[in-house]
Amino acid sequence: MTMDQIIEKFTTKNLTIREMVALTGAHTIGFTHCKEFSNRIFNFSKTSHVDPTLNPKMAEGLRQVCQNYTVDHSMAAFNDVRSPSKFDNAYFNNILKGLGLLASDHLLGVDPRTRPIVEQYAKDEKVFFQDFANAMEKVSVFGVKTGHKGEVRNRCDQFNNLPAM
Ligand code: HEM
Repeated sequence: MTMDQIIEKFTTKNLTIREMVALTGAHTIGFTHCKEFSNRIFNFSKTSHVDPTLNPKMAEGLRQVCQNYTVDHSMAAFNDVRSPSKFDNAYFNNILKGLGLLASDHLLGVDPRTRPIVEQYAKDEKVFFQDFANAMEKVSVFGVKTGHKGEVRNRCDQFNNLPAM
């Protein structure tokens, strides 16, 4: 997606660009399967195998990790290469160094509407934490299905009562 399209996804849910950047800071943890960023590291263009905006060492590492990704679909890389399982502001510092994993992560550091926010969060972890908490609280009540219309899942990736097979 272009940044215009990404911004629209959030603003149609009544989230500001600042809230979008804060929420995407969730990529400070977890991992991403190779197919989501394979276009950045294999056959990127006629002149370069890899996306030239990606840190070259990181690109080489990802090419190694993902070399068999079309066969082994489980291959994945950490979202935050510096501190993969720590919730901190390293994700934003990564973006500014070309260490953003997804094209959308990288774009946040390029677009003039989002770059200043990325820079602020990279400098000041407290501001990021505060903005993230507020924005998470906001999405947590957005479009919640109450009563018989929905349920709060015990596991985020499955219904509470799976239908009998
Ligand atoms: C521009 C917006 C976003 C895009 C394009 C995006 C895209 C992705 C993609 C492609 C993955 C990898 C999925 C996989 O390979 O299994 C991912 C992982 C993840 N995303 Fe996002 N995301 C966005 C915003 C967000 C937001 C707003 C949050 C939460 C507030 C979030 C939280 C996460 C987490 C925690 C993971 C890691 C999941 C895991 O380790 O299993 N992302 N995202």
